[in-house]
Amino acid sequence: MNTIYFDSTFDDYKRRQELYKGQLFVYSPTPSSLAMCEFAKEMIQKAFGELDPLTAQQHMPVEQYAAILAELKPKFIHHPESKQLIRGILKEHVCDLEKTYFDVPRMRTATSDNYLVSGIAYAFHPHRDTWYSAPFCQLNWWFPIYDIVSENSMAFHPRYWAEALKNGSRDYNYQEWNKEGRQVAAQQIKADTRKQPKPEEPVELSPQIRLIAKPGGIVIFSAAHLHSTVPNTAGFTRFSIDFRTVHLDDARILSGAPNVDSECTGTTIQDYLRGSDFKQLPDEVIQLHLQKTGKLNVVAV
Ligand SMILES: [Fe+2]
Repeated sequence: MNTIYFDSTFDDYKRRQELYKGQLFVYSPTPSSLAMCEFAKEMIQKAFGELDPLTAQQHMPVEQYAAILAELKPKFIHHPESKQLIRGILKEHVCDLEKTYFDVPRMRTATSDNYLVSGIAYAFHPHRDTWYSAPFCQLNWWFPIYDIVSENSMAFHPRYWAEALKNGSRDYNYQEWNKEGRQVAAQQIKADTRKQPKPEEPVELSPQIRLIAKPGGIVIFSAAHLHSTVPNTAGFTRFSIDFRTVHLDDARILSGAPNVDSECTGTTIQDYLRGSDFKQLPDEVIQLHLQKTGKLNVVAV
C-alpha cells in the first residue's frame, strides 16, 4: 500500500479495486454520518446522565462503567435508526444499494490509561478482520463520534499488507465464536479469556498510520489490513462507530484483497444486509462462502 485518498471522486468499483490493494480512503463528514454521530451522542449522553461521556471513566468504578456500556452498545447496534443511517452513508459515498451489503454498526470505546480494555471495551491487539472469518472482499468503515487525537485513535501497520505474520487464526471459527464468545463479553472486565486470533510473533508496530478525521469523517479500509487500537494516553475516552460492507459482484466470485496469512474457518457472510431492503446475500453466494470453511488458500503477494 502506498496511498491515502482524501475525498476521492472515484466510483465505487474503482475505489474497491484500490482498497483491495491496501490503499486507504478518508472522507469528510456527510449529512448522514453527522446524523449518525448525533444519534449516537444522544444515546451516550443518556447512558452517562450528568457526566461528560469523555471523562465519565474518572468518576465511577470500572464495573459500573462496564455495565453502562453493556446496555448502551447493544441498544445502538440493534436500533432500527442505525440501519437507516448506514443506508444514507452508503448512498452519500456512491455505493449501489442494490449490490452493497452491510452489517450492523458497532459502537466502540477506547478508555484512557488502561481503565477498561477488555470485554465490552476490548482494546484490539494488531489483527486483520480476515483472521476473524471475514471475506476478503469485506471493507471496514470507521469514524469517530467526538473529536479524537492521535493518542486515542486506531493504527494501521502497512508493512504487513503484503507480509505474512504468524498468527492464531487457524483456531478461529466465526460460527463457534458466536455460539460461545458473545454472551460472556460483558463479564470480561479485568481480563479477556476468550480465544482471539493474535499475532504469534513480535509485531513491528512502526511504521504505523493514524488517520485523524473529524467526527463523522469516515476511513474506509480493507478487512485484510493489519490494524490495532492505539493504547489510549489522551486522558479521555474515544467513542467511534464502525461497520462493514461487501459488494455482491465481489462476493460472488470470491474476489477481494489477497490472503497473506489467514487460516481461520467459518464465515461472516450471513451477517450482511442489502442496502436497499436489508435482505441477506443470495443463498448461492452464502453457500459458496460456507463451503470455503476449510483452510483458506494462503497466497503470496
Ligand atoms: Fe478490526
